[in-house]
Amino acid sequence: MEISFRLNGQEVTLADVSPTVTLLDWLREERGLTGTKEGCNEGDCGACSVMVTDEGGAQALNACILFLPQLNGKAVRTVEGIAAPDGTLHPVQRAMIEHHGSQCGFCTPGFVVTMATAHLNGATDHDTQLAGNLCRCTGYAPIIRAAQAASTAPVPDHMRDALPHLAEKTPGGDARQRGGGRQPPPWVQPETTQALAAWYLEHPDATLIAGATDVGLWVTKQMRDLGNVAFLNRCAGLRGVHQTETGLRIGAMTTLTELEAAVAEPHPSFGALIRRYGSVQVRNAATIGGNIANGSPIGDGTPALIALGATLHLRRGEERRSLPLEDFFLDYGKQDRAPGEFVEAISLPAQSDRLRCYKLSKRFDQDISAVCGCLSITVEDGIVTSARLAYGGMAGTPRRAAGAEAALTGQPWAEDTVRAAMEALAQDFQPLSDMRASAAYRLETAQNMLLRYWHADQGCDVSVQEVTP
Ligand SMILES: Cc1cc2nc3c(=O)[nH]c(=O)nc-3n(C[C@H](O)[C@H](O)[C@H](O)COP(=O)(O)OP(=O)(O)OC[C@H]3O[C@@H](n4cnc5c(N)ncnc54)[C@H](O)[C@@H]3O)c2cc1C
Ligand code: FES
Ligand code: FES
Repeated sequence: MEISFRLNGQEVTLADVSPTVTLLDWLREERGLTGTKEGCNEGDCGACSVMVTDEGGAQALNACILFLPQLNGKAVRTVEGIAAPDGTLHPVQRAMIEHHGSQCGFCTPGFVVTMATAHLNGATDHDTQLAGNLCRCTGYAPIIRAAQAASTAPVPDHMRDALPHLAEKTPGGDARQRGGGRQPPPWVQPETTQALAAWYLEHPDATLIAGATDVGLWVTKQMRDLGNVAFLNRCAGLRGVHQTETGLRIGAMTTLTELEAAVAEPHPSFGALIRRYGSVQVRNAATIGGNIANGSPIGDGTPALIALGATLHLRRGEERRSLPLEDFFLDYGKQDRAPGEFVEAISLPAQSDRLRCYKLSKRFDQDISAVCGCLSITVEDGIVTSARLAYGGMAGTPRRAAGAEAALTGQPWAEDTVRAAMEALAQDFQPLSDMRASAAYRLETAQNMLLRYWHADQGCDVSVQEVTP
């Protein structure tokens, strides 16, 4: 199996690539490019940040949870490729020196790559751009000052990467032919949903890899053997957000970054929730299909989608079926998905925006939710006509609060009604205590999210970043 990508401007073609070699390991062990550091090896620290360019532009990604086949057809720039070929420092490198942005230096390559990528993209929301990069010694103020200082400098020409020329057929382009029907290939990378559907039907035990922000950790932390693998990242039919007559159709391979852009206008609170999902590097890789398919009870995408009345579209071979998203989650670790079936898309009905999303986690950035409440309550002539209250972190699956919804629906939209719904919510869930939160805290905060919705709807300021005691 051959893949091609550009590395710091040079074309690289690799044959017989193992599907579970990470870019980080390959850079350090095979290419001697040790500037890219290994900190956590699980997507949390940004020490391994690289810049990856594809048809959509340049993005920072974590190399520790990025498998080599995911780079096929793309361009990669590591910290060794940030200075110009003649050795002239990149503006962010100069600014890091001038503003004392580095002490031990371990985090510095990751910061420099993330900053250079943001600089290329003209992104000046530095807190957001750098939330996925951890520094234990310098502190963030000098680093942010460096990013600000560099932001007006022109982008050096070498940073604009061209894409490599791919052979006409990329690996798994026609998965069935490549496998010869007899000897399954160790991994495939289908170009079409049709090819994926046919191959997966024949290999229902295979592992599908979308953005690898979950699967990457199965390899780097759990040392799991993935068996047959299909990479979905070149499957055109799974990509893109499309406006339809009835709303939005969101391809399973839509990344969280793309989803944030698509929902920011119709549902700003959903956009703001996604802004707190992992980090820039994680959102650039993670897909909404993977976020749903992993069945996590604490995933942040699903409660919002359920509150918006999302429909899930599944495909198995030539068969397609659709179901309300909440019905997909049967029990902890159990989803309504047959062998060989995969998530093709999610659709959202057009609606006026009543959604508010509240994520409760120990840190503001780059943290998993203890509770994620996404509430959409429609009121007509002072009466609640519909309530969709979806919570993550309150049960073994993302779930709606049926009792609280019933306590609201048909009632006057008033604080007394909200307080009655808060009481009812106590019967909807029996949450667990774990390291993120106790059961009692989870329940109380989930109830208070309803009250917060009420106050926000009355025009009160409820942003955790703005309300002060
Ligand atoms: C540092 C870090 C921070 C994170 N922060 C958050 C967070 O704040 N909120 C949150 O919700 N999650 C978070 N996550 C978890 C993770 O990013 C999400 O679950 C992500 O959306 C998974 O998507 P993926 O494309 O990376 O999936 P992958 O890792 O590629 O796959 C996940 C699972 O879904 C399956 N799968 C993927 N696509 C399909 C498909 N189309 N059909 C069927 N099965 C499929 C895979 O086989 C696998 O079982 C974080 C992860 C990391 C590493
Ligand atoms: S090594 Fe920490 S994010 Fe990759
Ligand atoms: S300078 Fe030491 S970790 Fe950032």
